[in-house]
Amino acid sequence: MQSCEISSDSTDDPLSSGLRRHQQPRIVVIGAGLAGLAATKSLLENGFTNVTVLEASDHIGGRVLSVQFGKATLELGATWIHGANGNPVYHLAEDNGLLEHTTEEECSVGRISLYAKNGVAHYQTNSGKRIPKDLVEEFSDLYNEVYDLTQEFFKNGKPVGAESKNSVGIFTRDLVRKRIMLDPEDSESTKKLKLSMLQQYLKVESCESSSPNMDEVSLSEFGEWTEIPGAHHVIPAGFIKVVELLAQDIPARVLRLGKPVHRIHWNYSCPEAEDNADGADHNQDQRPGPAPVCVECEDGEWLPADHVIVTASLGVLKKAHETLFSPGLPQDKALAVQKLGISTTDKIFLEFAEPFWSPECNSIQFVWEDEAQLESLAYPVELWYRKICSFDVLYPPERYGHMLSGWICGDEALRMERCDDETVAEICTELLRKFTGNQNIPKPRRILRSAWGSNPYIRGSYSFTRVGSSGGDVERLAEPLPYTKSTKAPPLQVLFAGEATHRKYYSTTHGALLSGQREANRLIELYHDLFNADTTKPNM
Ligand SMILES: Cc1cc2nc3c(=O)[nH]c(=O)nc-3n(C[C@H](O)[C@H](O)[C@H](O)COP(=O)(O)OP(=O)(O)OC[C@H]3O[C@@H](n4cnc5c(N)ncnc54)[C@H](O)[C@@H]3O)c2cc1C
Ligand SMILES: *[C@@H]1O[C@H](CO)[C@@H](O)[C@H](O)[C@H]1NC(C)=O
Ligand SMILES: *[C@@H]1O[C@H](CO)[C@@H](O)[C@H](O)[C@H]1NC(C)=O
Repeated sequence: MQSCEISSDSTDDPLSSGLRRHQQPRIVVIGAGLAGLAATKSLLENGFTNVTVLEASDHIGGRVLSVQFGKATLELGATWIHGANGNPVYHLAEDNGLLEHTTEEECSVGRISLYAKNGVAHYQTNSGKRIPKDLVEEFSDLYNEVYDLTQEFFKNGKPVGAESKNSVGIFTRDLVRKRIMLDPEDSESTKKLKLSMLQQYLKVESCESSSPNMDEVSLSEFGEWTEIPGAHHVIPAGFIKVVELLAQDIPARVLRLGKPVHRIHWNYSCPEAEDNADGADHNQDQRPGPAPVCVECEDGEWLPADHVIVTASLGVLKKAHETLFSPGLPQDKALAVQKLGISTTDKIFLEFAEPFWSPECNSIQFVWEDEAQLESLAYPVELWYRKICSFDVLYPPERYGHMLSGWICGDEALRMERCDDETVAEICTELLRKFTGNQNIPKPRRILRSAWGSNPYIRGSYSFTRVGSSGGDVERLAEPLPYTKSTKAPPLQVLFAGEATHRKYYSTTHGALLSGQREANRLIELYHDLFNADTTKPNM
């Protein structure tokens, strides 16, 4: 642990006078996920000492959650570092020896990480047949061509046609269907198979973007999400190692787990502070003056603060912003919270004693032939399992054993979360038997699932730009409070970080990390003149 002592008395700068009373600005960070930890690390390294992290759960990492499952380390949350050079998470992992650079097989190479790792994806129909590889490739090429077109609307400012309703799902389905139907070489049955595959691809795409379905994803904004070039790396020892690296220099007294925040009183609205302010002379005694912000914890503890960095997910903000902030959020920020999208993507891990799949098989994709003509993919409650799009084979078996990792998203994922392990294991086994045509598949030895949607402090997996929202809403979400720099209101009382506040890299670990650093930098700049008087920089 390092000490970053800075004495604010070492300067005569008038900026410091307002801080004399409590020496150092009091900063509270809400959430110990990647955003909160990255912000805290930056603040400590830049000389701030009065920093407190309040984390609702009993562990750090938030949506990074590596779980020991027998000899395997499984990721219930983030799995891949998307892209290499220029990705701060990649550099952190690489510089600390967390990555394995053995063969290309370690990394998935496709655009959609669910598609391509080592080996071949087996596209299976509900009548238990494998779709021939050349047909899969033909369809995949067609789908990817149309996917590239979806990127152009944002990148080239291409106008969105009225018929697409500004929706990635509607645009993609219409265009891919049109091309399938116009192909003179395909038989009716081939056309039908391709139409069914389209639905399956859209389910996968929707799990990738953590949207209820692709119809809700904005076409005009879809291309703003930016890919960092390079492979998708996994961290064999667990993604949590990256979290631990960020947290390793944060002193234990700073980090308070099991401390859910109930309400953030800002703009000097803290009830206790108001009492103190009644005719009190602020410079008179040791009594802490009225704080610009007061953080009220669920257990009744109050923390006065000059600045609060909120990193709670968009899902938490959607559900709770009306009670979480007092006074309430400005209207345009509340509207941004409402307009932007977040839904649930969950994983289902199944461990088998023996593999029932062939060695070259890297995944089993479920293609329902009776869904070829469906419009929007929403199912009656009892058919939730139709949203499970695929099971990946985790590789290599020496590391994971014989493990499948299934994907489900949207409301159907929430329904899965409400079922018990036994039920889900049974349903998944039935699906695997049906689609592989192998009735002898035994029930899995063990099952492990994520439950991001029903976690009250997460409420969804990651954000997306919903139809009707835009990158501008992301900016509004990220803008600190109060908005206007009046001479009276202290600046930067409430700051916002977290994956959903990053315009280009939302939904990712690097987006979360960068957003935390961004908000820390606002404070570092605000106090720049004050801390500049002290030339000692802490060592890393
Ligand atoms: C299933 C899944 C797969 C993913 N796959 C990838 C991937 O492969 N690659 C990738 O880059 N990203 C992936 N992500 C996204 C990535 O995990 C997130 O973008 C990132 O971890 C979010 O970090 P954060 O700090 O913004 O939020 P969080 O991790 O959610 O941190 C916020 C913290 O705030 C706490 N909190 C909330 N409310 C309160 C409160 N009232 N009081 C106190 N504390 C509170 C929460 O408990 C949480 O710990 C995946 C996510 C999921 C769920
Ligand atoms: C932060 O400042 C407050 C008020 O001056 C003080 O009571 C508290 O002990 C300080 N905390 C730390 C961690 O320095
Ligand atoms: C903040 O407080 C000032 C002074 O009491 C008040 O005029 C202003 O409207 C408040 N701002 C908000 C957003 O409540």
